[in-house]
Amino acid sequence: MALEEFDLAIFGGTGDLSMRKLLPAMYSREFAEDLPAGARILCIGRHVGDTAEFLKQVEKDAKPHIPRETFKAAVWERFCKRIQYVGMDATDPAAYKALVDAMRPEPEITNVFYLATPPALFSKVCNNLSASGLATPNSRVVLEKPLGHDLASAKQINLEVGKIFSETQIFRIDHYLGKETVQNLLALRFGNVLFEPLWRREWISDVQITIAEELGVGNRMGYYETSGALRDMLQNHLLQLLCIVAMEPPTSMTSDAVRDEKLKVLHSLKPFTPVTLAQNVVRGQYRSGHVNGVAVPGYRKEKDANPTSRTETYVAVKTEIDTWRWAGVPFYLRTGKRMADSLAEIVIRFKKIPHSIFTQPNSSFEENCLVIRLQPDEGLHLNLMAKTPGDGMRLKPVELELNFLESFKAPRMEAYERLLLDVLRGRLTLFMRSDELEAAWAWVEPILEYWEQEENEPIPYNAGTWGPAAASALIGRDGLQWREEALPEV
Ligand code: BG6
Repeated sequence: MALEEFDLAIFGGTGDLSMRKLLPAMYSREFAEDLPAGARILCIGRHVGDTAEFLKQVEKDAKPHIPRETFKAAVWERFCKRIQYVGMDATDPAAYKALVDAMRPEPEITNVFYLATPPALFSKVCNNLSASGLATPNSRVVLEKPLGHDLASAKQINLEVGKIFSETQIFRIDHYLGKETVQNLLALRFGNVLFEPLWRREWISDVQITIAEELGVGNRMGYYETSGALRDMLQNHLLQLLCIVAMEPPTSMTSDAVRDEKLKVLHSLKPFTPVTLAQNVVRGQYRSGHVNGVAVPGYRKEKDANPTSRTETYVAVKTEIDTWRWAGVPFYLRTGKRMADSLAEIVIRFKKIPHSIFTQPNSSFEENCLVIRLQPDEGLHLNLMAKTPGDGMRLKPVELELNFLESFKAPRMEAYERLLLDVLRGRLTLFMRSDELEAAWAWVEPILEYWEQEENEPIPYNAGTWGPAAASALIGRDGLQWREEALPEV
């Protein structure tokens, strides 16, 4: 479907997200010859002189993020012609005249306002857009995370933005929902008959969801210190993955059908109690160590760090979903920075066979296990038991593998590119609805409150490891291991 004419205005247009993700994503659409002739990108900032000067920044900071195989000088030149810098203070209502002058007011042109700004500015910007006549029924607003700091602030954002834009005009980004494999999970679950009958408590023993990063906080200390792993990753990305794994089949792929089902999962998450808060949540902070053989400082010694910071860089949680489908099945979620590896995966472990007829010694029995890999390689691994060749009936686990890159030679689309395309097309399925956002905050809030108690310090772990030993103990209490602990040494 061809895109209709649009003006995309990026608040925070000179910032890191714009340079690393948004502009490269739009370039990729240019390369695909998908952008309408008149489409424009208006980057809003305060500190750059004019468009010519801004384009020098784009050349320096955005161009390096374009994959070599799609870079063509002529396409780049064409793309840069679409970019205009609008210098203005987004908090000053009078400054919006510059934006009004820059945008095309015709009703057939979709106006998108991408708020890549701190959430404290969302309400002000929306009010100013409204006062300057830019918030029309035809316009859309994209809200970049963090979407609040807790339940109260998330509600406030929903309320304030909701006064100006209707729910169908609001696109709350969680870039994990734009990842190829996350959508492939929907295809796997609802495009095949194979898994659905097994996708329940009778056959699944437990689910692990991991997002591990080798990176530290880098130069984002200002933001991260106010956030931490729970707000940065668990409240959004991990819970969204959990929703896609656990939701009931939606009646269609329309936005509300999918979001209704995700919301039910969030509402069914077992609420924390004082006991489960103490037992089922692990909070860690990295100290110095080695990542890929390189010595790295601890979190409290990073640039601009608070030397007594209690911000967590790791969180692991065990939860359950109180529904007929999932009752009693533990879901283990974890994420951390400066871990031993960079990966994101969902591991579905099936139950043991009820009775073994194989009596031969040396069989190494394992439960069937489905691993859905989001990154670095996108694919599926299914562990099955098979007979080893030769005499006797000895069984061994074998792996069926599907590598999405190899199976589909088609070019990949980055998460932000897909999501921006969906915004431009007005498709809301991969964006969070206001009630989902609030339900996710409501569920994590007891953890935040618990951590605020004075005696709760994060547990230190060495950079380059899989996090605190307490996380192994958390899953170990159920007689289980995290996947990397269960894998044979190589
Ligand atoms: C962002 C977090 O939302 O996701 C970052 O703010 C994190 O801290 C990033 O590094 C991880 O995303 P990805 O796509 O690189 O796994």
